[in-house]
This record gives sequence, C-alpha cells and structure tokens, in this order.
Amino acid sequence: MLQPTNAKNHQKIVLVGAGAVGSTFAYAATLQGIGQELVIVDVARDKAHGDAKDIADALLFTYPKNIYAGDYSDAADADIVVITAGTAQKPGESRLDLVNRNLHIMQSIVTKIVESGFNGIFLVASNPVDILTYATWKLSGFPAERVIGSGTSLDSARLCKYVGYLFNVDPRTVSGYMLGEHGDTEFPAWSHLSVGGLTMAEWIKNDPRFTEADLDIIADRVVNAAYDIIRLKGATYYGVGAALARICRALLDDENTILPVSVYLNGQYGVEDMYIGTPAVLNRHGVRQVIEIPLNEKEQGLMRASASQLDEVMRNTFA
Ligand code: NAI
Ligand code: 2OP
Repeated sequence: MLQPTNAKNHQKIVLVGAGAVGSTFAYAATLQGIGQELVIVDVARDKAHGDAKDIADALLFTYPKNIYAGDYSDAADADIVVITAGTAQKPGESRLDLVNRNLHIMQSIVTKIVESGFNGIFLVASNPVDILTYATWKLSGFPAERVIGSGTSLDSARLCKYVGYLFNVDPRTVSGYMLGEHGDTEFPAWSHLSVGGLTMAEWIKNDPRFTEADLDIIADRVVNAAYDIIRLKGATYYGVGAALARICRALLDDENTILPVSVYLNGQYGVEDMYIGTPAVLNRHGVRQVIEIPLNEKEQGLMRASASQLDEVMRNTFA
C-alpha cells in the first residue's frame, strides 16, 4: 500500500525566468491549482510584474493562489525553485549550442538563490538541461536528490503521443520513456515500452499494419520535434510548461510518482557523475529513487553514446 502522503498545506514555488517557458509553466500551474504561492522573478522586472498580474487575472476561474513578482530573497521559504531563465534555440541551433551563454546566467541565479537560505528543491528546465542541472547541483552544494532537471519528461510525452497516434489509442495509456540527453542523442527505450500490456515487438508481430520502420519514424519525430516546432513558430513552451507543472505536483504532493527526469547518475547504466534522463521516483524530498531500466544491447550502446556526448561538452565547458 502507498504510504499516506506528507504534503504541506502551504506550498510555495519561485519561478526564475518569465519568458515563454516560465510564463506557460506559471499559467499551467495556476490552472491546475498547483501550490498556493507563486513568485515570479526575472531580470526584466517589468515582465515578471506583468506576468504575475496577467496570470492573477485568471484566478476567478481557477484556484486560490497568491501570485506576485518578487526577487531572490523570496526563495528563502520556497519549496521549489523552477529555473526557466536563459536563451532559447534559434532555428538551426542545438540545445548544446546554448551551453556557455546559459551557464553564465545559471551561475548568477543559483548563487543568489542559495544566498537567500533556500532549502527546497531545484527544478531546472533551461537548456542544455542536463548540463545546467549538473551545474546547479555543483553550484548549490545541495544533495543530488534535491536538484532535478526536466530531462526527457517532455520527450517521453512526445513519444507517447506518437505511439498513441500510431495505434489510435489515448497517449496516456502508453507507458514508455525517452532516455539519455534531452537533446539530439536521446532515444526511446523500445524494449520496455508497452501499450495495453503489449510490447512494441508484440504489436508488430500481431498486426501486419505495423512494422519496425514505424518505430524509426517515431524516434526520429521525437528527436526532431523541437527543431520542427521552432522552425514553425520560433519556440516550444506548452509541452514543457505542462511537464514542469506535473513534476511540481509530484514533488509538492509527495506523490512517489515515477517520471522521466534528469537525475544524478553514479554508476547506473555505467554512467558516472552526470545528470541525464531516466525515470525516477519523485516525492517531497525530491528524487527518492533512480530507476535503472535493464536495457538491451542496442539501447545500452545508445545510452553510452548519449552520456559520452554530454561528457565531451561538460569537459570543454567546465575545464
Ligand atoms: P525566453 O527568451 O522567452 O525567456 C527567457 C527569460 O529568461 C527572459 O524572460 C529573460 O529575461 C530571462 N532571463 C535571462 N537571464 C536571466 C537572469 N540572469 N535572471 C533571471 N531571468 C533571466 O526563452 P524561453 O523560450 O522561455 O526558453 C527558456 C529556456 O528554456 C531556454 O534555455 C530553452 O532552451 C529552454 N527550454 C527547455 C525545454 C525543456 O524541455 N527543458 C523546452 C523548451 C525550452
Ligand atoms: C524542446 O525540446 C527546445 O528543449 C526544447 O522543446
């Protein structure tokens, strides 16, 4: 039996970065009644004030919440600090191309948050998210279980969406994960993905309408989803906004829910000293447990390749 939860009555989130991703997260969290207090911080102070006022205009139609623009000192008694500040990709840029610009921004933010006396959970979405989550962990000196990146939560949602489309079933009934870097080297753990209790191999065996080629098309669509959307409209934010809200709820409500996020690996999958995407059990203490999925040989190779890509960028960045 799941233990009774220990969720606090008053839950406070500080959001740093009132851009497209941050605002969308704030709106999603407000619509879903996640947390009772939301403070918005941005280097562009007017933007934070404007966003807080605009979102608060929705309160009659949502849930009670105290929403206001603030500063880093507001993190002192916060449960979660969500970081969505930083530059986003321009068409053709990869997430890894952003590393130097956003690392600099992350350094200034994390230092000030820690100085406030913050003692909660960091949730990072700024890209490249795995590397910036690692940087947040290092800079904060927090235990790894209280520093989490959005990781492959969005990518896994994309995967379930496309598998749902393929079989014409509700994506929420697809159980599967994208693993590895939130970026070009991520991959679907097909050997563990299931739909209605059937693995992909069983679906393909049972129904001649589906083939291995469908899986390759889906993997390609997921890996390139952000490039496609950025090409079409300049940025992505609805998917990640919803993913961040979902992660915050799991943390605040002490859910012990399993979600694919960027967590610190210390030997799992043969990966050492790195943040990367894998499922983890989340509750009010942060990461209760990292789940290491037993991968087949091909998937193990993909995980190694993804980790080695991140390792190369990290060695250049932190050298
Ligand atoms: P944006 O340009 O719309 O917003 C960025 C915000 O950060 C701006 O409001 C800016 O004033 C603020 N900012 C910059 N430096 C700051 C500082 N030192 N302190 C406080 N605020 C600061 O960008 P957008 O589209 O919201 O993207 C934000 C980040 O999220 C990017 O790095 C992007 O790549 C990433 N992202 C991550 C996703 C994920 O799944 N993890 C999905 C989509 C975007
Ligand atoms: C996304 O996957 C760009 O990381 C962002 O939508």
